[in-house]
Amino acid sequence: MRVLVTGHQGYLGTVMTPMLRAAGHTVVGLDIGYFADCLLGDFAGDPDGSFRVDLREVTEEQLRGFDAVIHLAALSNDPLGALAPEITYDINHHASVRLARLAKAAGVQRFLYASTCSVYGAAGAELVTEDAPLRPITPYAESKVRVEDDVAAMADDTFTPVFLRNATAFGFSPRLRADIVLNNLVGYAVLTGEVRVLSDGTPWRPLVHARDIATAFLTCLTAPKADIACRAFNVGTERNNLTVAEIAGAVVDAVPNSTLVITGEYGADPRSYRVDFSLARTVLGFEAEWTVPAGAEELAREYTARGLTSEAFFQRFTRLPHLQSLCDAGELDANLRRVSAPATA
Ligand SMILES: NC(=O)c1ccc[n+]([C@@H]2O[C@H](COP(=O)([O-])OP(=O)(O)OC[C@H]3O[C@@H](n4cnc5c(N)ncnc54)[C@H](O)[C@@H]3O)[C@@H](O)[C@H]2O)c1
Repeated sequence: MRVLVTGHQGYLGTVMTPMLRAAGHTVVGLDIGYFADCLLGDFAGDPDGSFRVDLREVTEEQLRGFDAVIHLAALSNDPLGALAPEITYDINHHASVRLARLAKAAGVQRFLYASTCSVYGAAGAELVTEDAPLRPITPYAESKVRVEDDVAAMADDTFTPVFLRNATAFGFSPRLRADIVLNNLVGYAVLTGEVRVLSDGTPWRPLVHARDIATAFLTCLTAPKADIACRAFNVGTERNNLTVAEIAGAVVDAVPNSTLVITGEYGADPRSYRVDFSLARTVLGFEAEWTVPAGAEELAREYTARGLTSEAFFQRFTRLPHLQSLCDAGELDANLRRVSAPATA
């Protein structure tokens, strides 16, 4: 298939695009390039023909000739969403719905959307299925709910949207993100010897490896239309429904000589939920393979081998300060639009 991946220069996109190509798909990327240079170590390169464009300015013409769109581009960060909710809604909600509308008009048949399990909000200890009430508690999660609603309304015989509600990702990507829980805990431990938990350790976090997320998208690209049309699927595995304290325990085991410190300074984090992943297992035959201990070991190994530094960990690989540095350098304006003319990716 000919597949357009938005956000291909992000953490997940950088893992997913080579897997799509290896499966025989022709892949083109579309990204504004906020994190294009945020690489840790060697990187094979982005797909040829990819283009640098702001999602808010994409044209129908740019979407012609694709069988499917995988839509990953977003401001993917709860703290950023809280700081600038209007920009989060602008990009994550309005531009995403516009993208779907233009894609449908351009003849794209499948639209796979990267949603999130955080749409369930503070669900407590019960396992939530796709039918559970959505109680987003951040602008980021709210933007995801709004896109699901608006894009679902576009579904018809010619246009098949699918909503993949991913658990929180972990695992190595050449375009690293250090602001997601396992990647963060391992990085801090490798750099300082401490596994530092700021909450009281009790919140539940469903986790899933970036490669497993990519596999779920690959599966939905070719699954029979009747199985997936306009459906939401939780993406992850019950084995990785862990408390933050349990995740931290896996990090202590993976990073030699590290010690656990639970500061509790943030108190009980309200974002707590355990997720049921049986629908994707039953309908798609999808099973996430990576465990948290295996992911922690992979991260510790890659961070050490590729020479992770404190500066990169806290600045370049953490979404909020990196975007702030692009604004300070005059590359982005206050709405996170590029100030200079777009270049080829
Ligand atoms: N990483 C996770 O834990 C996780 C979990 C659930 C869902 N998701 C979703 O998966 C998707 C990808 O997540 P990620 O972790 O790779 O995030 P990321 O921040 O690493 O990547 C997002 C990409 O989108 C691009 N982008 C942002 N605004 C844009 C714009 N206006 N125009 C064009 N491109 C733009 C960025 O440049 C970046 O390359 C997001 O939609 C996110 O909400 C991620």
